[in-house]
Amino acid sequence: MSGEQGGKAADALPAWYVSGRPHVWLPYAQMKTARPPLPVAGTRGCRIVLADGRELIDGIASWWTACHGYNHPHIRAAVERQLGVMPHVMFGGLAHEQALTLARRLAELLPGDLDRVFFSESGSVAVEVAMKMAVQLWLNRGERRRKRFIAFAGGYHGDTTGAMAVCDPEAGMHALFRGLLPEHHVVALPRDEDSMAGFAHLLERHGEELAGIIVEPLVQGAGGMRFHDPQVLRRLRQAADRHGLLLIFDEIFTGFGRTGSLFACEEAGVVPDIITLSKSLTGGTLPLAATVARKHVFEAFWSDEPTHALMHGPTYMANALGCAAANASLDLFEWEPRLQQVANIARALERGLVPCRELPGVKDVRVKGAIGVVELDRIADLDALRARFVAEGVFIRPFGTIVYLTPPFTIGGDELAQLTRAVVKVLRG
Ligand SMILES: Cc1ncc(COP(=O)(O)O)c(C=O)c1O
Repeated sequence: MSGEQGGKAADALPAWYVSGRPHVWLPYAQMKTARPPLPVAGTRGCRIVLADGRELIDGIASWWTACHGYNHPHIRAAVERQLGVMPHVMFGGLAHEQALTLARRLAELLPGDLDRVFFSESGSVAVEVAMKMAVQLWLNRGERRRKRFIAFAGGYHGDTTGAMAVCDPEAGMHALFRGLLPEHHVVALPRDEDSMAGFAHLLERHGEELAGIIVEPLVQGAGGMRFHDPQVLRRLRQAADRHGLLLIFDEIFTGFGRTGSLFACEEAGVVPDIITLSKSLTGGTLPLAATVARKHVFEAFWSDEPTHALMHGPTYMANALGCAAANASLDLFEWEPRLQQVANIARALERGLVPCRELPGVKDVRVKGAIGVVELDRIADLDALRARFVAEGVFIRPFGTIVYLTPPFTIGGDELAQLTRAVVKVLRG
């Protein structure tokens, strides 16, 4: 056993860990060489409690989900109550209070007429559903050619094959999976007049075969925490309108306050035709996702023709526990000052990460809402860097060439300062 659990801690490895680890296959890991995962005994507030008793301050909120911290009593009570009533019923032919309440609340919160909610159980599936909706909208209107999408370099939309095909070619491993993935147009985001001209040209040439445009608004997350201006989204809206294309905003990462407004699309004043949500939807408690469509999208499926129905229905869609957690999470956004907390975090991240600007090998330091990023020229050994953060008592998972913080919005000033101090200390070397 190496590194992270070396020495005394290794003696404390629990029996479930020793007997179970040979049977799990870990995410994004070369199983032969990856360091062993840290055994977790529990979570508390913004902390991950390890089996050996150490506590790590969570700098990334469990892949950007735990926006209220862990084990929030309000969410816990809602899930426990729902468990006593009904953990799950299928959503085909049946409806339940938590899902319908959540659908209504999401429709009320989202801008414009984004008001028809299709539930699923993960972000990738929500993206698949959005793409299927877009393609079938055209089929239902009798346009059979429109099956391709425009997506953007640096974008990430999930790991299922449909979603992979609209990721950045590297994240989607397009070359490796050539022949399996449908081919779409993955191009540079139109950030300026020049790239806009190229983008407009692409639309002129291929407009007739396009179903829509998919983008992560304001922040491309897993593709490298790259930010863009709201103006880019307004340009995309104009271009989509000019060519009658559907505009899909993937807010699986940005939704629920992460960039500073409840939804990133609000900052741009743009209403997409379809929006995807997941991650913070349940406050990081249970897997749930939603694909929400505007009225005109839904109306394209409204017909006496059975084949015009949206043919999708994941077994666990609208899971009652997940919907109860999501309703409780929305209560917390109503009752507690989450967006103010995000604004405070943004200021603290700016202050705390500023010393990184002077460090050798640092290419950029940037902050947007509760997202703080230090981009490096290169990271030679990601695993070693991750282990150094653990040694500092924080859980931070750099990837590619970036070290980033996306803490829970409820994080205290001291804990946040410990996170930024750890980043500066570790990068200083
Ligand atoms: C913008 C975006 N879309 C889709 C996904 C995929 O979500 P999931 O991992 O729940 O399938 C992610 C996950 O990181 C994401 O950041």
